[in-house]
Amino acid sequence: MLRDYETKTSKSKRLYERAKKVFPAGVSYFIRYFEPYPFYVTHAKGSKFFDVDGNAYIDFWMGHYTHILGHNPPPVKRAVKQQLERGIHLGVCHELEIALAEQVVKMVPCAELVRFANSGTEASMYATRLVRAFKKKSKIVKFEGCWHGGYDCLQTAVKPPMDVPETSGVPTETLKNTIVAPFNDIQTTRRKIKNHDIAAFIIEPVLGAGGGIPADKEFLKELKELSREKDALLVFDEVITGFRLAPGGAQQFFNVTPDLTILGKILGGGFPVGAIAGKRDVMERLDATVYERPELCFHGGTFSGNPITMTAGLAMLKQLEDGAIISQLNKRCRKLRNQLEEIFEDNHINVQVTGEGSLFQTHFTNETIKDVHAVSRADRQKLIDYHMHLMLNGVFFLPAKLGALSKAHTEADLEKLLTKTEDYAKGL
Ligand SMILES: Cc1ncc(COP(=O)(O)O)c(C=O)c1O
Repeated sequence: MLRDYETKTSKSKRLYERAKKVFPAGVSYFIRYFEPYPFYVTHAKGSKFFDVDGNAYIDFWMGHYTHILGHNPPPVKRAVKQQLERGIHLGVCHELEIALAEQVVKMVPCAELVRFANSGTEASMYATRLVRAFKKKSKIVKFEGCWHGGYDCLQTAVKPPMDVPETSGVPTETLKNTIVAPFNDIQTTRRKIKNHDIAAFIIEPVLGAGGGIPADKEFLKELKELSREKDALLVFDEVITGFRLAPGGAQQFFNVTPDLTILGKILGGGFPVGAIAGKRDVMERLDATVYERPELCFHGGTFSGNPITMTAGLAMLKQLEDGAIISQLNKRCRKLRNQLEEIFEDNHINVQVTGEGSLFQTHFTNETIKDVHAVSRADRQKLIDYHMHLMLNGVFFLPAKLGALSKAHTEADLEKLLTKTEDYAKGL
């Protein structure tokens, strides 16, 4: 398959040779690398993108799950074009930032006040600091398999082996106040934190990088209770699930309201974004007209609230607000997950398809997938081969990663995914 790939992507190969000279591993983010080298995209529209060799791909990666309306959605494009004429980066206050924050408050159950950042990582960093400042405690609990971006305190225990750091360069002392607990296991979580004074529990309500695994609703409810017992805050990282599972994100979908939420991706309408949003008393700790040092907690950033992101985000959220697009996508994706499972089952191949809302991921295993440990026991090489087979047939998943459905995906796109999956399953 790799030879076929090289034959189809000779121009991309040349570009990759150039890229290797200027980037470590030849890429801007290692997640985008795959064997033998990534292809290079010239343009994208709707459900597809096109590479320099003229190949078309139906895209299920969708800009790291950002493009819930598909690539280049007209309402977002129109809003951005208009704003480009008015000013790119103002660096002072403007109405669009208020409008987007108002929209977030309207849609997200826990959001009483909002602050914008430029990425999910940045928002995770500010959220962690804020919960510590508010509770005047240092310890935070994060869960196995949760990815919150590249922030030091949270970049641990994302995938097994859990006792090996996810990255070098983080001093052991930095992680001393991060307690790792098992996902979907409230009893062990209780035991692990028993003798600790906790500032906050931070969790992804659906594991994204960890394998598309939804938290049990009961687990989230019990976690909220536990956070009350421990006088701690509950924080949902909704960078992926926000505005995707429901207009109000996973917190609306599961009906469990956290104290604070971390947002990103869809919120920016395709432009760089992050945000923290939550209860007034917590968020007010960022208010320098109320608090001063040492009580005041800092948040800021040159590009935070920039008008291009704000107008793109607003155009995007307006499309999602009434829930019609989201519930349609959720319905289509539930059917798709079942269809994929059936294809493998009919061909006597053990597969679990996980996901929630419009997210889906295939795992080659017969084990029920409840956490990232089960994901790591599945046959990863087979998943990479499956995704490479799809890629060669014009259907793109970032190898071994979660897929996402967008409004732009047509029934013909899904049919192609199913047919090519069947080819692969039959070939096994
Ligand atoms: C759940 C979650 N949190 C945080 C992040 C970090 O966001 P960013 O890549 O914008 O820094 C991601 C990125 O994929 C994510 O999936």
